[in-house]
Amino acid sequence: MTRDTIAEIHLSAFQHNYQIVQLQAPQQKIIPVIKADAYGHGSVAAANALPQADAFAVAFLEEALVLREAGIQQPILLLEGVNHADEWLLAVQNNCWVVIHGQHQLDWLKKSKLEKPVTIWLKINTGMNRLGIEVTQLESSLDQLKKLPQVKTIILMTHFACADEPQHPLHQQQLEAIRKIRQQFPEMIMSCANSAAILSQDPSNKIPPNPPFSKGGIMQQEDWVRPGIMLYGSSPFSNRAAVACQLKPVMHLKSRIIACRELNRGDAVGYGATWVAVRPSRIAVLAIGYADGYSRVAQSQRAVWIHDRCCPVIGRVSMDTIMIDVTDHPQVQLGDWAEIWGEHISVDQAAKAVGTIGYELLSGLTRRVPRVYLL
Ligand SMILES: Cc1ncc(COP(=O)(O)O)c(C=O)c1O
Repeated sequence: MTRDTIAEIHLSAFQHNYQIVQLQAPQQKIIPVIKADAYGHGSVAAANALPQADAFAVAFLEEALVLREAGIQQPILLLEGVNHADEWLLAVQNNCWVVIHGQHQLDWLKKSKLEKPVTIWLKINTGMNRLGIEVTQLESSLDQLKKLPQVKTIILMTHFACADEPQHPLHQQQLEAIRKIRQQFPEMIMSCANSAAILSQDPSNKIPPNPPFSKGGIMQQEDWVRPGIMLYGSSPFSNRAAVACQLKPVMHLKSRIIACRELNRGDAVGYGATWVAVRPSRIAVLAIGYADGYSRVAQSQRAVWIHDRCCPVIGRVSMDTIMIDVTDHPQVQLGDWAEIWGEHISVDQAAKAVGTIGYELLSGLTRRVPRVYLL
């Protein structure tokens, strides 16, 4: 039994994108971010495709346990840390590294009896104001951690709010905060860079370098970089396409035509009769809808790719289907496959049409779309 909508996952593209990270950050260690089921691609397959990775990052313990049950051996970083005191034990038993972003987690750790000491990533709020201890608390948090027998290693981390806009004042402010932390704790290994920050420094200089990241900048040898979206071949920038960053799309979302029909001028299509034929038309129905994660909300014209050209999506998106106008493409037939996003229509373009970002489309693809893994 096969569905007429599939997400092909091109693992060779995933590996290629990992190599782009290596090129951009040749001195650093890489921790691929495979939370949210590897941004919808399947975390177990993603981890298995990168046996050379030193560690992986997920959001929380349950996501790490999925990887452990599948036999993944590398350390797994919990980016949100533990959400209950008793999770410390399970996290350590499962060889997880754990973020501490608040004093409450540190207090739970103090009270925990662990089988072995744990690697802590101490998250500092340098301006994003989401998770992280304040810079002013850093010294005290470090002192507390260094005294604990439960702690093996401490790495400092922070997260950028605007790395995709390197000139943004907040980005500059965060860089400055990181520089000061470096000066104060020169011996500490740090992790700051997500995809946008990694891609801001291009060794070939094709992309203008972001000065604070160039030589002597904040990303130093032995530091960890945390790429997510770039591994999946989507761009973190609104003004630079993935292909311009030399990234390849990993997910190719495809759907088949399950019906074709001829319409007279004036005939309407779909719920609410929002699209009306202005000429005798031919339409096709594709087996994908909002229950698959294909957003019902469009902000601009959207399209699918079929027989080497774009065809507009018309009318409202239903739960299981969308309709396309194929009037000018007589070669389009029942059973043909259309690309929803992937090679010809990037997920970033598809995202723009619905007023969102590639991250949301990829991670929002629902479970009923089978993932088909290709090497
Ligand atoms: C703490 C942290 N690090 C790294 C990443 C990866 O970011 P990106 O997917 O933009 O590379 C994320 C993603 O949201 C994150 O939350």
